[in-house]
Amino acid sequence: MELTFISQSPRETIGCGKLLGSIVQPGSIIGLVGELGAGKTCFIKGLASALTGVAEDDVTSPTFTFLQEFPAAIPLYHFDLYRIAALDDLRDLGFEECVYGAGVTVIEWADRAEAALPPECLTIHISVIDENRRAFIFKARGEKHTEIIKKLKQKTGGGTDEWH
Ligand SMILES: Nc1ncnc2c1ncn2[C@@H]1O[C@H](COP(=O)(O)OP(=O)(O)OP(=O)(O)O)[C@@H](O)[C@H]1O
Ligand SMILES: [Mg+2]
Repeated sequence: MELTFISQSPRETIGCGKLLGSIVQPGSIIGLVGELGAGKTCFIKGLASALTGVAEDDVTSPTFTFLQEFPAAIPLYHFDLYRIAALDDLRDLGFEECVYGAGVTVIEWADRAEAALPPECLTIHISVIDENRRAFIFKARGEKHTEIIKKLKQKTGGGTDEWH
């Protein structure tokens, strides 16, 4: 199942992240794919604040540490794999424990760990349309993650496949 969201500003992207943050469940896995500056972290600011209550300003790309954890009733594990050299390095980071744990996992540069991603997850491809506009394409694999897209559709206007 697929869904496209066109964001016209960073604020709208944060809003979309918040919406997803209100829908995800323990065990949800979200992979973000998009060039430098596409808006991956911006989206996660909304997701993390809605899910864990963290301040948006405290959510930044963990480019050098690879992982930032936000403790909460449902914890959030935020990975940034931009600088990951080998998939083996993921093991040392506890990637599997996060992904198969009771929290929500969100991964920037998920395409760099394609082979390590579980078969069931939600991927979001972001493309830059122009300075302020981004297209977010949501794709789900597996029943649980398809359910997330269905709920997103319900909350964004009557089941359309595209919203603004
Ligand atoms: N509609 C939009 N949604 C998100 N960001 C936008 C939008 N329009 C402009 N921007 C700008 O694009 C940039 C997105 O930065 P962000 O750090 O979220 O990207 P990123 O994909 O995480 O990059 P990186 O790969 O370097 O971690 C910000 O400077 C933001 O202000
Ligand atoms: Mg980032």
